[in-house]
Amino acid sequence: MEKRTIRDLDASGKRVFVRVDFNVPLADGKVVDDSRIRAAIPTIRTLLEQDAIVILASHLGRPDGKVQDGLRLRPVAERLSQLLGRNVPVTGDALGLGTEDALRRLRPGELLLLENLRFHAEEEANDPGFAKTLASYADVYVNDAFGSAHRAHASTVGVAEILPAYAGLLMEREIVMLSRLLENPERPFAAIVGGKKVADKIKVLRNLIDKVDLVIIGGGMANTFLLATGRSVGKSFVEPDRVEDARAILEAAEKAGVRIVLPVDVVVAKEVTRGAEHKTLGVEKLPASWSIVDVGKQSLSAIREALAPSRTIFWNGPLGVFEIPVFGEGTRQIARFVAEMADAGATVVIGGGDSVAAIEQQGLASKMTHISTGGGASLEFLEGRTLPGIAVIPDREPATA
Ligand code: 3PG
Repeated sequence: MEKRTIRDLDASGKRVFVRVDFNVPLADGKVVDDSRIRAAIPTIRTLLEQDAIVILASHLGRPDGKVQDGLRLRPVAERLSQLLGRNVPVTGDALGLGTEDALRRLRPGELLLLENLRFHAEEEANDPGFAKTLASYADVYVNDAFGSAHRAHASTVGVAEILPAYAGLLMEREIVMLSRLLENPERPFAAIVGGKKVADKIKVLRNLIDKVDLVIIGGGMANTFLLATGRSVGKSFVEPDRVEDARAILEAAEKAGVRIVLPVDVVVAKEVTRGAEHKTLGVEKLPASWSIVDVGKQSLSAIREALAPSRTIFWNGPLGVFEIPVFGEGTRQIARFVAEMADAGATVVIGGGDSVAAIEQQGLASKMTHISTGGGASLEFLEGRTLPGIAVIPDREPATA
């Protein structure tokens, strides 16, 4: 069943509370990565063009219910103002007389941004009184904060239970693209799963294992899988308590006829630091005092060959210690390869985190079919879980004949 979206809403003249996810990285008072802000623009523009009064609300960081000046939303409002080509005022607080006054003065076609919702502990507690106050600002509620849809907070669930609720255009696109992976992927369907820990990805792997044709495993988590297949991985990062989980995934894959590709050669380093001595070795002969930091050339050829026939690719997580550039070659090469696959017509969905950074750095973002704005949210979605921020939005009414 499809969710009700702003396509089903006539917003003209209405006060619309729009929950966005402007939880973006900042450095020196500036937004470092504005992709989440850019992703919310279509919904904001659509509502403004309909002469709605747009009240934007977001969290930033984890201030734990206290005001933290470094987590004020002003840098976000500045970036949003540049992107929209108009000034976006930001209130000094999400609550209070000053805010109510600013809201009263807004005319149709105008907008403002409420200050960081998490300066109030009531936001994360989904406090009914706090939700009621936020709901009193508006006539309707729009959730475009896919990145926060896995949180049952006042602004993601509480307000949606009070006001008529709709999904924004970003939320709609995320649901459509990620559901397609779970429900109706064009085959062959490959998942590339990397990143440091098996613990973070095990549930996604469990849910995807009988939906995919191929799983490529890389990054720190591949070390635990190598251990599960009887290899020794030297000084590499491993999760001994996840070896059983890794084994269970390998067995489930075999049963389901799913091919799993693990590294056959790896880059190992004496220390996991910039400038450390490193070399490429087969996984059979890893020295006890070195650490795995990237996939090797043979592994990359094997990955490319395995991926080549895929019509659908989902990728989450780097294949090496990507934050140290010299150990990021495997991740960068795979970014280029999946971009070529997307160019050739495959559906390529990127699930957030460092894999996105690798793509952005090489200017490949526009080639991808979809880059999710959700980190935790996209993983929980692909784990097959119901996300509270989505569940609370009513389904679209069936069309009457
Ligand atoms: C995210 O960045 O994943 C979302 O904005 C949610 O943030 P949180 O993990 O602090 O709830």
